[in-house]
Parts: sequence; structure tokens; C-alpha cells
Amino acid sequence: MSSLIQDSARAGASVGLKGDRMTINGGRPLSGRIELKGAKNLVTKAMVAALLGETPSVLRDVPAISDVGVVRGLLEVHGVKVSDGDAEGVLHLDPSNVESANFVDIDAHAGSSRIPILFCGPLLHRLGEAFIPDLGGCRIGDRPIDYHLEVLRNFGAVVEKLPSGIRMSAPNGLHGAKVALPYPSVGATEQVLLTAVRADGITELRGAAIEPEIMDLINILQKMGAIISVDTDRVIRIEGVDALSGYDHRALFDRNEAASWAAAALATNGDIFVGGARQPEMLTFLNVYRKVGGGFEIHDDGIRFFHPGGELNPVIIETDVHPGFMTDWQQPLVVALTKATGVSIVHETVYEQRFGFVDALVEMGATIQVHKECLGGQACRFGQRNFKHSAVISGPSRLHGADIVVPDLRGGFSHLIAALSAEGVSHVSNVGIISRGYENFINKLEQLGADFVLEA
Ligand code: EPU
Repeated sequence: MSSLIQDSARAGASVGLKGDRMTINGGRPLSGRIELKGAKNLVTKAMVAALLGETPSVLRDVPAISDVGVVRGLLEVHGVKVSDGDAEGVLHLDPSNVESANFVDIDAHAGSSRIPILFCGPLLHRLGEAFIPDLGGCRIGDRPIDYHLEVLRNFGAVVEKLPSGIRMSAPNGLHGAKVALPYPSVGATEQVLLTAVRADGITELRGAAIEPEIMDLINILQKMGAIISVDTDRVIRIEGVDALSGYDHRALFDRNEAASWAAAALATNGDIFVGGARQPEMLTFLNVYRKVGGGFEIHDDGIRFFHPGGELNPVIIETDVHPGFMTDWQQPLVVALTKATGVSIVHETVYEQRFGFVDALVEMGATIQVHKECLGGQACRFGQRNFKHSAVISGPSRLHGADIVVPDLRGGFSHLIAALSAEGVSHVSNVGIISRGYENFINKLEQLGADFVLEA
């Protein structure tokens, strides 16, 4: 029997697991229904956007994940009043009294998140200055912020590097700019949007990321009064306006979480109905899922993902920016690919070091090799550069239980799936990191019939 220690269900609360180590008795199909809330990678940015409004905002479907707690804390130290609505997952954000925060408070609240960098544009508009501490986030590559700093300089920000972090000021205000990103970075595109909407004049962004979460951020900004057009070929034009109001918005569902549970259904021979998942934002994932041999049914209120029986097929995938196969989808899917009959190749082109998690899978009996070469697709930015960014997975493998330590968010979820699909007992440590992006995953695992104990 599994025992359970509940996550906090309060939207935006700083959620963490009381225990950080799970003992999992694998080999049981996960089966049942779970519900998604809003996307981590939209909700956190939508909360920052509230800083730009002159009136309060209401955000709906906010998941109780620790990344939301980090942004909530950062908003609060800057004077934004954040309160829970009557219904679950509703946040009220009142930016009437935005004020400068001291370095120590910002640093203490930033935690391991990279979101603080996105506070810069809005804070420069509101206060004329911003400070960001050293940034964290998952350890999946260098994750530099050079595009962000260049974007802000283009708008007229003065950037000073200090031992404790980076200080920015805008002595002459922020003005519209022509920006061309060297790579369609999600964060840098959001930086441009959050800065340009209140900058003086017109901004033209070339090489923009166009992920659905970015489109939903544009929806929010338009509700606030912004003028933004998305043209062909990754060009976004923004006409700056003098003032923005608050918004009322229901966040786009979390398609990364949906894909994770879909992979869990396949890897464990299970059948999971993911409430709130939608087809359009998952088109590319669904194509791959079908090629691997996974079954799915699209319903009005969600998507059912299941293992239809029989063998799974190997695939060759290359991760890419939208509308390509998302980098966040590969780690959970790799676990299912260890069960496919034949050789699969996954070429990771977004992050240079996102295969650290496979060592644990190999320890559990998977046959996976990682290579420096660009395998199975086009040459990417990481070829010839000493980064092991292509994985070759040979299956089918019977995974067995092991002692594993969760390295990062998505890799961690894939370790959970691996342990749940393996024969025997696994001890998985550092599982708290998973609550950065998966709401109430402990409750969900229990709902789906997983056999585990969370150690206090
Ligand atoms: N990059 C730079 N310089 C920069 C910014 C990015 O070289 O200034 C590089 C990165 O190192 C990376 C690539 O550009 O190689 C893409 O990074 P991007 O900026 O698109 O990523 P991000 O905004 O930091 C978001 C998500 C990630 C998701 C990526 C790609 C959030 C909080 N994070 O990161 O999500 O993988 O976009 O879609 O929105 C996750 O949810 O687990 C996660 C890591």
C-alpha cells in the first residue's frame, strides 16, 4: 500500500514535499484520471505581466507548484499584493503599490528560478531600476542570459554587473527597438514583449519564439491594452502604449505535464485520462506518440492516453522550438522508448546537456548511449562542440529497481516513470524538485494507483 504526504493545494503557495525520498514498488500500470491546471511556463510570466497594469489582475487555473511560489514571493517583495481567490487556482495580483526591493530580499526569494530576469522590463517601466541575482533553473546546460541583456540594452537600459548580480537602470526611459534574436529563445521573446508593450514607439522582433505559452502571454497583454501583431516568419511587432490595465485570464493548460503523463501511461502499460489537455497545442507530440505505438483519444474535456497492447516502435526525433517536438517532452518519452523494439534516436537541439538523466535509466537496465555528434537529423548548434546531445536507445529493455537521485525537473519526472515501470523496488531521492513544475504529483500518482511510500 502506498502512503501519502499531501502537497499544499494553495495556489501560488511555496509548495514543497515534506519528505524528499520515495520508495516505489514498480510494475503496476498507471490508470485513472488526473486534471491539469495552467502551464508553468505561462503562469509565471503572466504573474510578472501583472506588474505592468495600473489596476489589479486575476489569473485563473494557477497550479500549486513551487515556481509559482517563487514568483509570488518576488512580486510581494516588490509591493504587489498577491491573494488567493475564493475558487481553487485563482490569484489576485494588485500592483498599485509597486516599490523597489532590497537585494537581500530579492536574492532570498529568487530561489532556483530563472524568472527574475523577466522582472527587468516591467520594473524599469515602473521604478526606473531593477536588480537580478545570480539565476538558477534546472541544470541542463549553460543557460546564459546574454540575449536578455542585449534586448534590454536595445530598449535603452543601462546594465551594470555587480558581484551580487546585475543592476539595471533606464535614465532616459525605454524606447521601441529593432531586435533580432540569434535563436528563437522563449525567455528572450518574453523579455521583448514585457518590455516593448510600454516602451515609447514601435518594436520589431525578428527570430521570435512562437510557443503556445508565448501566444497566451500575448493574449494577456492584449487584454491589458497592448497592441501586438504576430506576422509570418517569426516576426512580432509591438506598438508601445502609455498605460496598461489589469487582466482577467484563464491560463493555457500545461502541455508539458500532459506529455509527461502520456509517456507515463505508455511506459507503465497504463491508461491515463489527462483532463484539460487539448489537441492543437500537442499536435507534434501526438504524431510521435502514435508512431511509437501509443493510443490516444481526443475528448472535449481532455485526452486519454493508453498503451494499446503489443510492441512499441522505435522512432527518430529531433527536439526543436515550436512547432517542433519540445525539448521538455523528450525525457519522459525516452523512458517509453526503452520499451520499444529496436533503435530510437533522440537529437536534442535546444539544450546542450539534457541527457544527464539517462545514467539512472542505464543503471536500471536500459541500453542508452549518448553521443557528441548530431544524429538522426540536421546538424545543430551543438555539433562539433563536445556536448553529448544525441541519445541512441536500444530496446526493448526490462527495467529493474535502483537507487536514484533526481537531477532536475523533467529528468526527475522521467526517473519517477522509470521506477514505476521497473520490476522491483526503487528509492528515488530529491523528488521535491518535481514540485517545481508538477502540481500535486504525489496525489496524482496515488489517484493513478501507483504503489509507493513517501519517506518523512
Ligand atoms: N539562450 C541563450 N542566451 C539567452 C537565452 C537563451 O543562449 O540569453 C539559449 C539557451 O541556453 C538554450 C536556448 O537558447 O540553449 C533556448 O532557451 P530559451 O530561452 O528558449 O529557454 P528558457 O526561456 O530559459 C523556457 C522554459 C523551459 C523550456 C524552454 C524551451 C520557462 C520558465 N522555461 O526556458 O522549460 O525548456 O523555454 O521551450 O518557461 C521546463 O519547463 O522544464 C523548462 C526547462
